[in-house]
Amino acid sequence: MLVAAFSTKPYDRDALLAASRGTDIEWRWHETHLGANTALLAAGAMAVNCFVNDSLNAATLEQLSHLGVKLVTLRCAGFNQVDCAAAARLSIPVVRVPEYSPHAVAEHAVALVLTLNRKLHKALNRVREGNFALDGLLGFDLFGRTVGVIGMGRIGRCVAEIFLGFGCRILAHDPHPDATLAARGVIYVPLEQLLAESHIVTLHCPLVPATYHMINAERIASMQHGVMLINTSRGGLIDTAAVIQSLKSGQIGHLGLDVYEEEADLFFDDRSNSVIQDDTFMRLLTFPNVVVTAHQAFFTKNALDAIAAQTVRNLLHFQRGEPLEAVVAG
Ligand code: NAI
Repeated sequence: MLVAAFSTKPYDRDALLAASRGTDIEWRWHETHLGANTALLAAGAMAVNCFVNDSLNAATLEQLSHLGVKLVTLRCAGFNQVDCAAAARLSIPVVRVPEYSPHAVAEHAVALVLTLNRKLHKALNRVREGNFALDGLLGFDLFGRTVGVIGMGRIGRCVAEIFLGFGCRILAHDPHPDATLAARGVIYVPLEQLLAESHIVTLHCPLVPATYHMINAERIASMQHGVMLINTSRGGLIDTAAVIQSLKSGQIGHLGLDVYEEEADLFFDDRSNSVIQDDTFMRLLTFPNVVVTAHQAFFTKNALDAIAAQTVRNLLHFQRGEPLEAVVAG
């Protein structure tokens, strides 16, 4: 079975090759993103394998259908990059990896909180330069602080558990409250209350039309002055222009991002010798109280191996005509 795998890096290939050893899966590796203008690279393949910044819009899916591609497998949990209605219309099943390591992403969100709070990004450089002054590195105790978790799914609940361990008060917002977590001390509240009372707000809900720019100017104004905002979910949850204004006014006191609305043209590649054209992104990097990582929250050995294993399972289920797991469309 020939599979055209897009947006692949050596680490993806190593994991997928190891997971598919002993099967008849044959990989055709592409470093480029999948989109309407690159779909031809899937010619002859039974399935394509994609990642977060591949564009599976109607035009791409129509081309894949035309080429005889029968299955789309995602190497990720989020599927906001897929036009599910088009996939269903074209009868191309789209399967994902719904859970690989929620701990990987949760732990990275917490790493962003700790880095921003204790200014580790600055301290590292200072000490290397022989500057041992502490001015400007003042943090706060996490113990006793209120952390607002928006989206209490697989990742959000791991984040809540970790912050419970720090002795934080956890406010949660999710359309589907979980009684077990409530019994462990998590307090489910309406979004307005979470935003008004939290010192740290961390986003773990999916990007869907209803959550697009859920963190906008109005909602930011309703937060605590100097709030810490963390986004490891999807860039589109945040109105970046509004966030920049709030960083300038001090309404947002710390910002930790692992995702960015326009990341598709930036992340996962070495652009250190290029002039980056995205002025909004570059403005974000100028703030001393902003830490950006390039969509690396998932990036642990455990997660890569689990993604590869589920991807191979998805392909083999399809090949054998068995019921598919984790279908998002089609
Ligand atoms: P999940 O599906 O287990 O949980 C999502 C939760 O959000 C659900 O409990 C759902 O009820 C809730 N939700 C839906 N709409 C909401 C709303 N309007 N307000 C509050 N909560 C809402 O998903 P999981 O695995 O926890 O992943 C969360 C997100 O993290 C994914 O959608 C994905 O975009 C992102 N992600 C980011 C990664 C990274 O490397 N930065 C890696 C993996 C996932």
